[in-house]
Amino acid sequence: MKVGVPKESVAGERRVALVPEVVRKMAAKDFEVVVEPGAGEPAALLDSAYTDAGATVGDGAWTAEVVAKVAAPTSEEIAKLGRDSVLIGFLGPLTQPDTTRALADGGVTAFAMEAIPRISRAQSMDALSSQSNVAGYKSVLLASEHMGRFYPMLMTAAGTIPPAKVLVLGAGVAGLQAIATARRLGAQVSGYDVRSAVAEQVESLGAKFLALEAGKGAEGEGGYARELTDEEKAAQQSELTEAIKGFDVVITTALVPGRPAPRLIAAGAVEGMRPGSVIVDLAGESGGNCELTEPGQVVVKHDVTIVSPLNLAATMPEHASSLYARNVQSLLGVLVDDEGALHLDFDDEIVAGACITRDGEIVHEGARKATEAAPAGGDRS
Ligand SMILES: NC(=O)c1ccc[n+]([C@@H]2O[C@H](COP(=O)([O-])OP(=O)(O)OC[C@H]3O[C@@H](n4cnc5c(N)ncnc54)[C@H](O)[C@@H]3O)[C@@H](O)[C@H]2O)c1
Repeated sequence: MKVGVPKESVAGERRVALVPEVVRKMAAKDFEVVVEPGAGEPAALLDSAYTDAGATVGDGAWTAEVVAKVAAPTSEEIAKLGRDSVLIGFLGPLTQPDTTRALADGGVTAFAMEAIPRISRAQSMDALSSQSNVAGYKSVLLASEHMGRFYPMLMTAAGTIPPAKVLVLGAGVAGLQAIATARRLGAQVSGYDVRSAVAEQVESLGAKFLALEAGKGAEGEGGYARELTDEEKAAQQSELTEAIKGFDVVITTALVPGRPAPRLIAAGAVEGMRPGSVIVDLAGESGGNCELTEPGQVVVKHDVTIVSPLNLAATMPEHASSLYARNVQSLLGVLVDDEGALHLDFDDEIVAGACITRDGEIVHEGARKATEAAPAGGDRS
C-alpha cells in the first residue's frame, strides 16, 4: 500500500505525519511511502533521512492510496485528493464542520485521529494523548519563561529560596504530564479535577490533590468529565478564587469534549493572585479556562501574566512527530489486510469509530451534529 506524507501548510504547524524511524519499520512491512520534499524540515528531519529509511521523496504524496497528515487539509488541499482517497489526520470532527463537509463532498474516506475510540486496543493510536503529553510538558517550561522565579527550593550562600507553588487544573493526560514535569523541576505541586478517579493519580505523582466540593465526581461518558450545571460552575469558580491565591503558577487544561472550555478562573481570581504569578491556559483553542485569557496571546492582567499557547505540541516538532507517527503507523495496521493491501473493515470498532466521511456522506455522529449546528463557513479553528 502506498502512503503519502504531504508537507504541512498551516502556519505554525511544524510536525510531520511520519518520521524516518517509522518509515523504516513500514518499509520492512512492504508499505511504500512517498514524502513531499521538505515535509520533515520544520521537525529537523531532512529529505535524505527519509530516503535512507526507504521512502521516495518527490511528487505523489497527495495521490497515494492513503494520505497521512497532521493538521486538517485546506480546501485547496482537499481538491488534490482523489475520490477514492483515504485521509488520516487531526480533522476536527467536532470543531471544523466546513472541513468535514468538504471531505464528504470530495468523496474522501476520512479518518480523524480525534475520533479513534479510547479503548485499550487503540491505545497505541491515541494521538490526543501523545500530543497532550507534549503540551503538558511544554506548558511548565513556558510558565518558567514568564516567571521571575525558580521552580526548586535552592539553598545558597545568599540564603534559601522556597520552591515555586504550582497548581494544575484539569488532571487528564496533559495535566498529569504537567504535574509530573513540575515535580521533576522541584516545584511544590497541587492538582485538581472533577473526576473522582484523579485524586489517586495526582497523589501517585507526588503532588497534593486539591479537594473542592463543587462538581465533585462529575464523571461523564467515556472516562471524560461532564459539563457542570450553572450552579456548580458558579460554586467551583468561587472555591477556586480562594484556593488559587497562594500559587505562583497555574496551568489549566480542563476540557469537555465538543463543548466550550469550562471557565474555572474568574477575573476576580486573577486579581487575587500575587503580582508576578503566571497562568498558562492550555484550553485557549476551546475558549480558555480563564475569563481573562486571550487565545494565542500573552497578556498581563492585574500584574499576572496569562499565556494562552495554541497548538503547543507543534512547538516540540521532533518528539511530537515521532509519537504521532507511531500513532499513525498503528492506525494503518488496522486499515490493511494480512497481505498489507488497503482493506477497510467497518465492522471493526476502531475503523468505524474513527471514520468521519465515506461515500460522500458524513458517517460520524458528532461530526454530523457539528455540521448541522453550524452553517457553512462555521469552522472554529
Ligand atoms: N485509551 C484510553 O483508555 C484512554 C486514553 C486517554 C484518556 N482516557 C481517559 O480520559 C481521561 C481524560 O482524558 P483527556 O486528558 O484527553 O481529557 P480532556 O482533555 O478532555 O480534559 C482534560 C481534563 O479536564 C477535566 N475537566 C473537565 N471539566 C472540568 C472542570 N469543570 N473542572 C476541572 N477539571 C475538568 C477532565 O476531567 C480531564 O481530566 C483520562 O484521564 C482517562 O481517564 C482513556
